[in-house]
Amino acid sequence: MGQRLQHKIAFVTGACSGIGLATTERFVAEGACVLAADIQDDAGAALQRRFEGRVRYAHCDVTQPAQIEQALAQAAAQFGGLDIVFNNAGAGGMRGGVEEMTIVGWDATMNLLLRSVAAGTMYALPHLKARGGGAIVNTASISALAAGYAPIAYSTAKAAVLHFSKVAAADLAKHRIRVNAVVPGLIATPIFGGGFGFDREASQRMAASLTERGGALQAAGRAGQPQDIAEAVVYLASDAAGFVTGTHLVVDGGMTVGTRASWDPTAPRPVQEALGLTPEVLQAMQARAAQAQAAEAGHG
Ligand SMILES: NC(=O)c1ccc[n+]([C@@H]2O[C@H](COP(=O)([O-])OP(=O)(O)OC[C@H]3O[C@@H](n4cnc5c(N)ncnc54)[C@H](O)[C@@H]3O)[C@@H](O)[C@H]2O)c1
Repeated sequence: MGQRLQHKIAFVTGACSGIGLATTERFVAEGACVLAADIQDDAGAALQRRFEGRVRYAHCDVTQPAQIEQALAQAAAQFGGLDIVFNNAGAGGMRGGVEEMTIVGWDATMNLLLRSVAAGTMYALPHLKARGGGAIVNTASISALAAGYAPIAYSTAKAAVLHFSKVAAADLAKHRIRVNAVVPGLIATPIFGGGFGFDREASQRMAASLTERGGALQAAGRAGQPQDIAEAVVYLASDAAGFVTGTHLVVDGGMTVGTRASWDPTAPRPVQEALGLTPEVLQAMQARAAQAQAAEAGHG
């Protein structure tokens, strides 16, 4: 905490809710000025009023590359330059698996989650170069790492965001621009309700429910919060991460650390069960080991 982003100018997409909002708040607390880009104009106007002079809202639909280009130019013009880009806006995209897929849905999901990141990087380049360097952070997801966390289109786009970040980091190192990704686990935001077609109010209630009940889903024992991700983004965007580029930071409370049985002693152990090692057999083995230990101690 403190002024880790003093005099920095940042561009944040999806700034009106969840991870983008928490990051905007954290960026301001750390001394940055923020161009907050989103499609929620009322929330954006409120955000701008709340941080008068430090946050400027721009309507920017990230599925429209020209709007990204324009909002980035606005950030540089408004605050006198650009140092940090957080390509973060997103939603659940097309639901379902291969059997439910449509080409239209696939393209829309890629445009929202992947092309937006490419455009945000591409159009930020002249502004970052003009400052002699900068930092780009892209929001991926644990669904980029393994199957089972999100629909196939979303997961594929997020995996591509990881790889894009790595290759862009190599490409842009010559301009002293670092590129990294943050990989959130299950974070209590309205994104899930939205993905099921609920309105924002209902989606907020679902996020609150996730905060209450989500602790059991990961090793950390509590639900992930947008602020958990914001902290990681501040680090990756700050000079403290000056030697960090082309990589990603997983912030998931241990959700991907291993199978549930690796951190929950009460979880079923399917491999042991398949081997015929029932709880009774294991108990008997433990008792025998304890007897052997006691006998050894008696001899020593
Ligand atoms: N919440 C999680 O568990 C989680 C996990 C992994 C990754 N993520 C990713 O984090 C990012 C932020 O999601 P969140 O959880 O904070 O969700 P959220 O719904 O709280 O916030 C997303 C924001 O993006 C904005 N947005 C949506 N479509 C847009 C568009 N076309 N143009 C501009 N803005 C748009 C929304 O208006 C909203 O303000 C997304 O990329 C999401 O995929 C979230």
